[in-house]
Amino acid sequence: MKTLRFFAFLAAVTLLAGCHDIVRDNVKNAKIQLGSLLEVSEQGDTIRIPSSFEKGEIRFTRREGWVSGFFAGSLWYMYELTGDEFWADHARRHTENLDEIKYLTQHHDIGFMIGDSYGNGLRLKGIEEYKDVIVTAAKSLSTRFRPGAGIIQSWNTDRGWISKRGWTCPVIIDNMMNLDLLFQATRLSGDSTFFKIAVSHADKTIENHFRPNYSTFHVIDYDPETGEILHRNTAQGYADGSAWARGQAWGLYGFTETYRNTGYERYLKQALLIAEFIFNNLHLPEDLVPYWDYDAPDIPDACRDASAGAIMASACYDLFEITQNPFFKEKADKLVESLSSPAYRAEPGTNGGFLLMHSVSNFPAGGGVDVALNYADYYFLEALVKKHNLEKK
Ligand code: GLY
Repeated sequence: MKTLRFFAFLAAVTLLAGCHDIVRDNVKNAKIQLGSLLEVSEQGDTIRIPSSFEKGEIRFTRREGWVSGFFAGSLWYMYELTGDEFWADHARRHTENLDEIKYLTQHHDIGFMIGDSYGNGLRLKGIEEYKDVIVTAAKSLSTRFRPGAGIIQSWNTDRGWISKRGWTCPVIIDNMMNLDLLFQATRLSGDSTFFKIAVSHADKTIENHFRPNYSTFHVIDYDPETGEILHRNTAQGYADGSAWARGQAWGLYGFTETYRNTGYERYLKQALLIAEFIFNNLHLPEDLVPYWDYDAPDIPDACRDASAGAIMASACYDLFEITQNPFFKEKADKLVESLSSPAYRAEPGTNGGFLLMHSVSNFPAGGGVDVALNYADYYFLEALVKKHNLEKK
C-alpha cells in the first residue's frame, strides 16, 4: 500500500514538473523568437508592428488595423512570464505607440487593440494614465452602438469589399471580444452606460447569432433602427451555413469573458453550449487544433488554424477556473501540448520570429492561408500565463 502511494505521489510530481516544463520551454523559445521580432520592429524612434509571416516575409500593420495591439500584448505576457523589466520596457513602448487609436471609431476592433496593449499594461504595471486611454477608447466604441437594434455595429459599409456585400449594419461574432473594454471602462469610470451597451450586445448575440446546434454564424446584418435581421452570412468562413473555426473560438472566449465581467449565468451557459459544439464536433482533429472551418470541404486535407486553437486553449483555462470541471483543463492542456509540438511551434530562428505556424487569416479572400499570425502567438502566450498561474495555485 505504502509503495503504491509512493508511486502515485511520484506520478503526480512528475506530471506537475512536466506541466511547468512545457511553460518554461515555451518561454525559452519565445525569448529568442520575440527578441528577434523586436529587433526588426524597433529602429531608432521608429516602431513597426509585426502582424504576420507570409511567403517568407514579415508583414507589418498600420496602427488602425485590427491586429495592431497584439504584439504589444505579447510583450506584456513575456514580462508576466519572466518578471524581466526588459519586456515591460518594450511592451510600454509598443503600447504607447498606439495612443492615437483611442479615438478610432471606424470599426469595432478597438476593444482588441486597446485591451491587449493598454489593458495588460494597466493590469501588470498599474500605469495611471492608461486608465484614461481605456475610458476614451470605450467612448469611441460606444459611438457604434445602435440602440434601435441593441447592438454595436462591427463594420462600416461604405467602402472596399464590404460595400459590395449589400449589408446595412453588419455584426460579426468577433465583436464579443470587444466587450471587455466596455466592462473595464465602467469599472474605471463608474459610468454604467458602457456596461449596459455590452450587456445589450451580448444578449442580442445570444438571440440572433446562433444556430440550434450552438454553432455561430459569422455575420448577422441588422436593420439598425428596428433590429430586424436582414442577412445571415459569412465573410471569412467556408459558407454562410458553415462553422468558421475562429468564429466559434471567439464565441467561446467572448461569452466566458462576458460571464466573468457580469456574473450573469446566461453567458456561462452560452459558453458551455459553444464548448459542446466544438468538442463534440466530429471534424475536430485528435490534437484539438481545428481545421480553419469545421465544414471545410477538403477535411482531412484542409488547413488547420492554430490561432483558433490558441484562443480555445485560453478560454478553456478560464472555463476550468470558473467551473472546476477537469474536462476544460484537459482540453486546454492538450491544446497547449499540441501547439508546443514541432507540428505547430516554429524552430528558433525560423518563422520570421513568430512562435506558431499554420494559422489562417482569411481563406475566402486568399489572404494569410497557412501562415504565422501575431494573434495566434498572443493567445498562445496568454494560455501559458493562465496555465502557469493555475498550476502555481
Ligand atoms: N476579427 C477578425 C478575425 O478573426 O479574423
